[in-house]
Amino acid sequence: MDFSRSGRSRLEVTMGRQLGRTPSRNRYMPHGSCCVEIPSRNLTERSPNGPFTDLAQRLLETFGVPFYLFSSEGDLLYHHPEWPPPPSNWGKRVAQQAESANTQPPQEPKLLVYEKPLLVLGMEINTDRESPILAVGVFSTSRLVPTWILKRRLLRHGFKDYAQILCERLLSQPAWSKDTILRTARLFLAHNRLLADKHSKEKECQALAAELAGTYEEISLLHRLTQNLRISQTDEELASLALEGMLETVPAEGLAILLLPPETPGGHEKGFLQAEGSFFTRGNCPVEASQLLELAAELKVAESTRPIVCNRRITQQPAWRYPEIRELIMAPLIGGKECFGFLAVFNHSQGKEFGTVEASLVGSIAAILGSHSSNLLLYRQQEESLAGIIRALTAAIDAKDAYTCGHSDRVARVAVRLAQELGVEPRLLHTIYLAGLLHDIGKIGTSEAILRKPGKLTDEEYEHIKQHPRIGYRILMDLKHLSGVLPAVLHHHERWDGGGYPAGLAGEEIPLAARIIAVADAFDAMGSNRAYRSRLPDEKIDAILREGAGKQWDPAVIEAFFRIRDELDAIVQEERSAREEQQFFLPTTSTVNGAIPAAVLAAT
Ligand SMILES: [Fe+2]
Repeated sequence: MDFSRSGRSRLEVTMGRQLGRTPSRNRYMPHGSCCVEIPSRNLTERSPNGPFTDLAQRLLETFGVPFYLFSSEGDLLYHHPEWPPPPSNWGKRVAQQAESANTQPPQEPKLLVYEKPLLVLGMEINTDRESPILAVGVFSTSRLVPTWILKRRLLRHGFKDYAQILCERLLSQPAWSKDTILRTARLFLAHNRLLADKHSKEKECQALAAELAGTYEEISLLHRLTQNLRISQTDEELASLALEGMLETVPAEGLAILLLPPETPGGHEKGFLQAEGSFFTRGNCPVEASQLLELAAELKVAESTRPIVCNRRITQQPAWRYPEIRELIMAPLIGGKECFGFLAVFNHSQGKEFGTVEASLVGSIAAILGSHSSNLLLYRQQEESLAGIIRALTAAIDAKDAYTCGHSDRVARVAVRLAQELGVEPRLLHTIYLAGLLHDIGKIGTSEAILRKPGKLTDEEYEHIKQHPRIGYRILMDLKHLSGVLPAVLHHHERWDGGGYPAGLAGEEIPLAARIIAVADAFDAMGSNRAYRSRLPDEKIDAILREGAGKQWDPAVIEAFFRIRDELDAIVQEERSAREEQQFFLPTTSTVNGAIPAAVLAAT
């Protein structure tokens, strides 16, 4: 059959094959009848897999005749392409009949017409549609009646053009009694309810599975974040991790985290929204850092304990100044009583609005980030406090020898810069800084007479001085917070060629921090006046360092030294100048430059 060319279908004896049934016999085909044309213009089904195919097929298989499917308003939804179409407006009539027959429970089949032998059955069938589908089947309850009687009944009920062919079709079917048809209809409806229930449960299961998957992702993200709450993890690293995870979990087009600058005085106070800090974005972020600050101020985000959600009810108002933001969730990063920044989620990626699920997740992540920032701040303050105590202690050591005053501080700063140049991990810089400060702590046990002796030391005196790394190690070994500095303190007088002390380690057996401090120590010592000699000229210092590369010192550290020679010189000169100024006003032994180097702070 070619529906597309003629617009009409030709009912032929081979119809059964086209219905996908056994080719030997067509159950709809009246004997001796052929070449009856059925118009296909009422064929409302769009494709073999159209929305009503399954239902129509089940009806056909159950009752043995095709059913017409109507909407509850009587619009034709489906009729079998090889079955006579219903009369026009017939759908509305049967829909009204079904409506008026609703004295029975809706799930009961309805006898719309029963004039022997003609029986028209109606069933309201619930599907995914909002209103039920009305399935209407036409039956003859007897094959023994004359054709004209059935035809007269069909004509009376509106089947004009196709009464004859429908009549012949019905009489070719096995005749079922009214009771059999109704019983079958009840079974069909019961089966359909089971199917609908199963379908509904499957959908519930799918929705639950999707919700569960979403919840799992959320919990997984929160777990990953809390796992990374190590104090060594910087705010920036944690913010990046949070954004990566959120991009996979939150249905948003864009994300942003703004960290307020911690070094700004009052920068952590609630409501301080002047300075932009670090700004991180993922996806399509529709605002700049400055706009996010404005937005936070307008919405009073820093003062809120919960995430602020702005959906279209707010963003479509004329006063809304950010046309590219349709939906927004914004939460403050609160730790203790301070606001460390903001987390913002922009525009629902599925065209929906943000709800409590998304807001809750954003709030949890913001709380984690805020708590981490707060802990980190406390840790930094603790580190600064510890470094201050250590500087005071080392200043006391340096003061034993007026010539070495400030030496430890300069060694610490030079060592940090060298470590940076060598690519040492930022989180280790603070340990190297402390190791630089403490490397000669063991000299506390060395006689001042020896330390200040102008002139060459005797062998015995030299042996005495050589004890200071071990003494320093023993002084610090019980301080848990300073365990990281012990290798550098113990081994800063080892030589690359193995000729140093106290352990005679060689090459990379010597801890890297110790190799770095050895170069920083020698550089500052040679550049300082000592009791037994004046400071060496730069050319001489450089020559000694070059000559000692691969013998006394690690050649890689010496290479790094010469790459940043000028910078290191500036570091020691700055410290010496500041010290001279301070000593002019305050003749004290405390260190001049109290702050930890910025590189060290940035790494914690
Ligand atoms: Fe030393």
